[in-house]
Amino acid sequence: MITIIGAGKVGGDAALFSALKQLDDQILLLDIAEGLPQGEAMDINHMLSEQGIDVEVKGSNNYEDMKGSNIVVVVAGAGRKPGMTRMDLLKINAGVVKDVVGNIKKYADDSLIIPVTNPLDPMAYITFKTSGFERNRVFGMGGMLDLSRFKQFIHEATNSPRKEIDALVIGEHGENMLPLTRLAKIDGKSLPDILSQEKLNNIFTSTKNVAAEVIKLKGATVHAPGNAISAMIDNVVNSKKQVMPVSTYLDGEYGHSDVSIGVPAVLGKNGVEEIIQLELNDSEKDWFEKGVKSVKDAISGINV
Ligand code: 2OP
Repeated sequence: MITIIGAGKVGGDAALFSALKQLDDQILLLDIAEGLPQGEAMDINHMLSEQGIDVEVKGSNNYEDMKGSNIVVVVAGAGRKPGMTRMDLLKINAGVVKDVVGNIKKYADDSLIIPVTNPLDPMAYITFKTSGFERNRVFGMGGMLDLSRFKQFIHEATNSPRKEIDALVIGEHGENMLPLTRLAKIDGKSLPDILSQEKLNNIFTSTKNVAAEVIKLKGATVHAPGNAISAMIDNVVNSKKQVMPVSTYLDGEYGHSDVSIGVPAVLGKNGVEEIIQLELNDSEKDWFEKGVKSVKDAISGINV
């Protein structure tokens, strides 16, 4: 069973995509708001019936119902509103996430946890620490979302088919994210051989800023995060062993410890099966370090 805690727009979309991709035959949407997860589940089940897909989606306000989950996605908490940075949500959401993780420990002690609540990297750290789970079992969704935007900008700048784009975004899911323009490839060709440095810089900056633009225009980001969650679940449940950026706890990798931040990792049935260590150049290291500092500053102000 896949459990998604937080049945708002992103949680609902994650359930929808996971059901359409048939990533499990049971999906549970949990929320403290009475009626919301039940209504969302009904709406998705109606769609599944028309599609002839036998996945059962259930809505609940009771944490006990997540017993037997192999994957728990945590989307609960306040979302980013126009004009806010992700870090503005730190204090409000830290309490929510600690409480939710306490319940995961109680009812789904064998599960893998995918934190999604913002600010993502501090929440991934809190989840890891509060759960006491092995670090491979906690990996946050932020980099996959940033990557979806990075790929879209590369697609727009080059007109290349989306499937041919191979790229990564690592570092903080926030102001210091690091879209790796230098390492991006289209059909095996290096992106810096195709685009000018000025165009690469524009893609880098646009990738960082576009979430704020979407939030300003439509109030929230929904489909890209919902899909990014389901892509990670797909990688895990089908043991695809694809390399994806995830926010996970570092223990010496990239020269850092005691912090959770986005790094490329091989995902499989056990969650994070391997962290890939890339050779970063000086300016990339600089962004990565800034991200680590930002996350460490944030978590130092919270009682974990
Ligand atoms: C996003 O990047 C707000 O973190 C959320 O869409």
